[in-house]
Amino acid sequence: MVTIARPPSGAGTTTAGGDNVIDVQNLHVEFHTSLGTVRAVNGVSLGVPRGKTLGVVGESGCGKSVTAFAIMQLVATPGVITQGEIVLRARGKDPVNLLTHAKGSDDMRAVRGRHIGMIFQEPMTALNPCYTIGNQIAEAILLHRTKDHAQADAMTLEILSRVGLPSPSRLMTTFPHQLSGGMRQRAMIALALSCEPDLLLADEPTTALDVTTQAQILDVMRELQEHIGMSIMFVTHNLGVVAQMCDEVAVMYLGRIVEHASVDELFDSPKHPYTRALMRSIPHLGSGRKGRLEVIQGSIPGQFSKLAGCQFHPRCPDAMPGICDVKSPSLLPIGDGAQVSCFLHHDPSGSPRSPEAVVARAQSATGAGGATVSSPN
Ligand SMILES: Nc1ncnc2c1ncn2[C@@H]1O[C@H](COP(=O)(O)OP(=O)(O)OP(=O)(O)O)[C@@H](O)[C@H]1O
Ligand code: SF4
Ligand SMILES: [Mg+2]
Repeated sequence: MVTIARPPSGAGTTTAGGDNVIDVQNLHVEFHTSLGTVRAVNGVSLGVPRGKTLGVVGESGCGKSVTAFAIMQLVATPGVITQGEIVLRARGKDPVNLLTHAKGSDDMRAVRGRHIGMIFQEPMTALNPCYTIGNQIAEAILLHRTKDHAQADAMTLEILSRVGLPSPSRLMTTFPHQLSGGMRQRAMIALALSCEPDLLLADEPTTALDVTTQAQILDVMRELQEHIGMSIMFVTHNLGVVAQMCDEVAVMYLGRIVEHASVDELFDSPKHPYTRALMRSIPHLGSGRKGRLEVIQGSIPGQFSKLAGCQFHPRCPDAMPGICDVKSPSLLPIGDGAQVSCFLHHDPSGSPRSPEAVVARAQSATGAGGATVSSPN
């Protein structure tokens, strides 16, 4: 279990709407299966500021990986992107909506690797067992950065040593299966970073690693981020890693973003009941609190469920009957740079509630063990 050790306050500030490398707007991804349609991503909007790290967190199955794969246009069949916009602002290029490129097009292939790199929880997803590590990285460099083989080899050696792999020259002729799990993970990171992408999509890159290797890999990512100024979208279950790595956080629930805030704001003052429940389910260093950690009540509705209203209402201790089970809240700004999708913070017409009204609602919910407000104010 992970305890939370956070960087000094002020390390993260929300820059939503500023100079974002990627802007995802109203993204919808569906899987049409024989049993029905799974709405894996249901209107996600997010941006990753240049040179910063956005953490994406949420329970298993909430659509984190599908969102990352959609940005790369690598959603597996029978998945389809049915709606949305994914605008990439690569260095020195005009902004482009990636969804105007066909997924198998040369334009999209030019984006993958060169402008957007991706690392996965399982390195063998990205590494080809039939080619040496050196071959695979040099090939990516030859495709995107230089046509000179000697220069590509030199660049390969440089990136292998930068990710902290010992004996980089030996790795030029080493196959993935000849490496330990931690070394394979570093090799995959080297492959993803070899073309110095504008954006790195990191999908649980350290979940399978021991704590020491995890810390080393996170250091490597931070150093490289500083060195090449790239942005990172970091998908993880681990709020400890979020606290260490991220500037901003997007919290997902059932294919939607329910809260987006700076990392300081999210840890100091989580707004959405789901975020608050997530925070209460982890230990905090120095809190002095003893006893059992809380769990989030209930379970995620089934993949094919068509729930009316707020998707969290069956599990929400603050749910307001007649409102939350009828209307679906939108993700709206709440005045301090954060965005929240919850009727505690704005009324059903979309107007923000005053801080006093929010506090009053929270108190009435605590006192009654669940709010029973029948009309919005
Ligand atoms: N190939 C597929 N066919 C049908 N449904 C799919 C497929 N791939 C993903 N899904 C569904 O899409 C939803 C989102 O999946 P996703 O992999 O993005 O979850 P996640 O948030 O990354 O979860 P985890 O934390 O476990 O990795 C899930 O309900 C999942 O069952
Ligand atoms: S909208 Fe209602 S049910 Fe949904 S999180 Fe907010 S209070 Fe809970
Ligand atoms: Mg996943």
